[in-house]
Amino acid sequence: MQTTQQFIKDNQERFLEELLDLLRIPSVSADPAYAGDVRKTADAVAEHLSKAGADNVEVIETAGHPIVFGEKIVDAAKPTVMVYGHYDVQPPDPLDLWESGPFEPVIKKTKLHPDGAIFARGSCDDKGQMFMHVKAFEAMMATDNLPCNIKFMIEGEEEVGSEHLGHFLEENKEKLACDVILISDTSIINNDTPSITTGLRGLSYVEVEVTGPNRDLHSGVYGGAVGNPINVLCEMIAGMMDENKHITIPGFYDDVEVISMEERAEMNKAPFNLENYKEDLSIGDVRGEDGFTTLERTSIRPTLDVNGIWGGYIGEGAKTVLPSKAFAKISMRLVPNQDPDKITQLFQDYFTSVAPGEVQVEVHPHHGGYPVVTPTDTPEYQAAHKAMEATFGKAPIPKREGGSIPIVALFESVLGVKSVLMGFGLDSDAIHSPNEHYGLFNYYKGIETIPYYYQYYAEMKG
Ligand code: BES
Ligand code: MN
Ligand code: MN
Repeated sequence: MQTTQQFIKDNQERFLEELLDLLRIPSVSADPAYAGDVRKTADAVAEHLSKAGADNVEVIETAGHPIVFGEKIVDAAKPTVMVYGHYDVQPPDPLDLWESGPFEPVIKKTKLHPDGAIFARGSCDDKGQMFMHVKAFEAMMATDNLPCNIKFMIEGEEEVGSEHLGHFLEENKEKLACDVILISDTSIINNDTPSITTGLRGLSYVEVEVTGPNRDLHSGVYGGAVGNPINVLCEMIAGMMDENKHITIPGFYDDVEVISMEERAEMNKAPFNLENYKEDLSIGDVRGEDGFTTLERTSIRPTLDVNGIWGGYIGEGAKTVLPSKAFAKISMRLVPNQDPDKITQLFQDYFTSVAPGEVQVEVHPHHGGYPVVTPTDTPEYQAAHKAMEATFGKAPIPKREGGSIPIVALFESVLGVKSVLMGFGLDSDAIHSPNEHYGLFNYYKGIETIPYYYQYYAEMKG
């Protein structure tokens, strides 16, 4: 019989075409206008799983977007790997900054992807990375080479905070029972430097509303005497960080895990070039917490960022108005052992306490998530290490990342199962931004690497 790797080579073209078709469906989970397309994508993923040889394939309803499940139990005595991924994508806005349609995938070469990259929303995050697992599974099935049990749980609400997935885990512990959760939804350092993600930040996300006068006012008649809620909001936000870029919310750092100098030195050995980083982003300098490197600032330290701010007149031309209200969306990335609910409460208390008398404030919490750190001394992790080493020809570097996948902490607390974060994207792939792309090298490298994961994992678990 043909080898799994030969099957992958022989089917490369089709594997690409199928991904492009999936990328053509605009599965934007945040916007109800796309609900039909989200479902269509779930159905397409389910069909791919069935065709690849999965049993018990289901599109499972939730109070939000559906979850796709499928499994192949080869032998109940063997270990079980559950693949988690998401088929939903971020909104494509701002549309005018895309060089081609966000849902009309095209392949173009870039400096970092000389073999070409697929430009489309979701190409990297996460349809492209999720689909690598479906294709690797198909290849293992077609070549009679699946050495352990496999389950798939592909959700459609990751980009809106996986709101209904926690409940689904609680209700389906048996169905989801497994030994490890394998996820490709993170990055590697670069295409010559494989890495495995060993940590993700948590998240607390709030929206604030600042109200001044009971109506919009003429900024000449009242200006100078009445507090402008936009001015006040800007002051309040500016006050949340001191001159060392330390967050000033009392208690914010209380639970932050202190990392030893040895471990920090180790982290900073990862390849990183500040000049390239600045050049890639067209920034004159970086900015962040005093005493920490860029690598540390984006992995082991918490943050506070305004994601959007609005109020008053933002249409064409000028309108002289002293607005009644101002708003902002604020995210705080959290690190071990910060608790998102506690941080949200600290934010709320602080924001309310510093509001001057001329305004009233409201804080509306959005979704949150706990940070995670994954162990590296387990067969589950070592299998990923060996698999990447086999296909890249180099040992992967363990690396904590700055993004969040809130469900990972729940896998541990609800199912009692740890995750392995074996992603293949690049930080420069523009996920969540216009012109998101995913390298063909990365897509195929992922498909090639995944079967080795199963092989080594099965061997190690004997
Ligand atoms: N795949 C990303 C998270 C990610 C990206 C982790 C790159 C590590 C490296 C995920 O889809 C994502 O965007 N998560 C959101 C979480 C949120 C919507 C609750 C995030 O990090 O903002
Ligand atoms: Mn993702
Ligand atoms: Mn995302």
